[in-house]
Amino acid sequence: MNGFRVGEDDFEVDGRPVRLLSGAMHYFRVHEAQWGHRLAMLRAMGLNCVETYVPWNLHEPRPGTYRDVEVLGRFLDAVRDAGLWAIVRPGPYICAEWENGGLPHWLTGAVGARARTRDEEYLGHVGRWFRRVLPQVVGRQRHRGGPVIMVQVENEYGSYGSDGVYVRRLADLLLAEGVEVPLFTSDGPEDHMLTGGSIPGVLATVNFGSGARAGFATLRRHRPTGPLMCMEFWCGWFDHWGAEHVVRDAEDAAAALREILECGASVNLYMAHGGTNFAGWAGANRGGGALHDGELQPDVTSYDYDAPVDEFGRATPKFWAFREVLAEYASAPLPDPPPPPPSLDGPVSAVLSEWVPLDAVLDALGSPEAEYAVPPTFEELDVDRGLVRYAVTVPGPREPYPLSVRGLRDRAVVYVDGARAGVLTEGTPTLLDPVAGHARVELWVESLGRVNYGPRTGEAKGITGGILHERQYLHGVRARALRLDAFDVASAVRAIPSAGAGEGRPGLYRGTVEVHSPGDASLALPGWTRGFVWVNGFNLGRYWSAGPQTTLYVPGPVLRAGANEVWVLELEEGGESVRLA
Ligand code: GLA
Repeated sequence: MNGFRVGEDDFEVDGRPVRLLSGAMHYFRVHEAQWGHRLAMLRAMGLNCVETYVPWNLHEPRPGTYRDVEVLGRFLDAVRDAGLWAIVRPGPYICAEWENGGLPHWLTGAVGARARTRDEEYLGHVGRWFRRVLPQVVGRQRHRGGPVIMVQVENEYGSYGSDGVYVRRLADLLLAEGVEVPLFTSDGPEDHMLTGGSIPGVLATVNFGSGARAGFATLRRHRPTGPLMCMEFWCGWFDHWGAEHVVRDAEDAAAALREILECGASVNLYMAHGGTNFAGWAGANRGGGALHDGELQPDVTSYDYDAPVDEFGRATPKFWAFREVLAEYASAPLPDPPPPPPSLDGPVSAVLSEWVPLDAVLDALGSPEAEYAVPPTFEELDVDRGLVRYAVTVPGPREPYPLSVRGLRDRAVVYVDGARAGVLTEGTPTLLDPVAGHARVELWVESLGRVNYGPRTGEAKGITGGILHERQYLHGVRARALRLDAFDVASAVRAIPSAGAGEGRPGLYRGTVEVHSPGDASLALPGWTRGFVWVNGFNLGRYWSAGPQTTLYVPGPVLRAGANEVWVLELEEGGESVRLA
């Protein structure tokens, strides 16, 4: 029988049993000019397949407005050209440490807790999105000459909900749009997760970082036959701002990989190559133990993941340890790794001497200001990634009282009568010094990334409760939004007149850096606090002195020989220069 299929015990290609040695690499986290190199690295490690998610919110910024959906097709073509198979996980929810788990903000803002259920309004949007994106996949299935061998339904649905009707409806949508390769679900190796996330007639797989024998034993209780697969073998992990950098020992990970393969199972390394959360697309978790209802833990910009192929595309000790294990299961000798991409030829610095105050940036690129009875959320203002300036008057005369924000997500730099008065967060929502009336209060509120996992996925950003003086709500709030996407209109940024030296004040800093011979680099921002950086109009992502990440990855293809433009949008306290090395 022709094609790829799920057999009684194994996956089969053209009637022959095969083991999938797959690795995750997200096209949206790797510069397109570097895909070929990274895919060749994965082949050289011993993989025969690549897995990618598809982030809906990246591709449908507004309902019915689509952005470069074709990039998925281009990636799948690159996978085929690299001689690899492909597994596609189109969500609609993807988790993935990605803003809102991939769900558009306009959708979760509208449907709230009805997301990821059989709700017709939600499913209507999913259906329209699938009709738009799936042609990229359908024409590239293996039996049609493409690399795609399997497609996932939802993502770890059993870690979230129990609406089997919903999972079935999604599977039917995929089938109706022409997906003919096998479908599958993936879940944690727990009974309730497998019960909640899998559906009859669709292959079930499990996700774990170690303990393959136990994990597969659980899966077998639910599925007595069928190939075994660990769809996410967590060989590394991700970092949160302000927390310790997480690493996983290479030998320990290689031993866990060996255990999976010794079970006769297939595997997908999560991640094989992690890449970068460019342009502020990193998501966030909620701490607080099993309920995931505690403090916000925003994800850093790097998605290096301590993966075998690091953020720069280099082979790590984990790469060589995995290659040794995978070589034993390969059908032919493994190819050598490709030559590494060029690195920047030497360190260079740029003094960012031009400065535009935040207000002027808002004037040039922001939404019009409007007044609302109560502060609108980011969702109500249609802001995905970016910030909102809320302005409110404390009427006077009145005594000095504490000023606080209810439901602040996530962080506000506060000014009282033009002077900086402090930084508020969800956990510390009250200004240190009381405020007397009459006063004009401005709160510059920033989202640090929407929650992508657990019961609070999809929660709103901005001021979701209200602004309080003493216990009195302050009404009549003016709001103005700055979406990060506005910076795609690079010419507008260039046209804003400089107001001289910024001397550390918040705003947009600009300068140029001279590069002799471009190549991969890291960007350091000594003395800067928190914001975003663009090089030649490419948004490298968020920087934050909270660490643990201290430099940002600059893909070589972003740089050019000669002058390179650098913009830094600093939201708290800026430095003087940036350094590329
Ligand atoms: C789960 C999700 C993935 C990712 C990992 C952690 O398994 O399915 O998308 O979030 O956790 O990196």
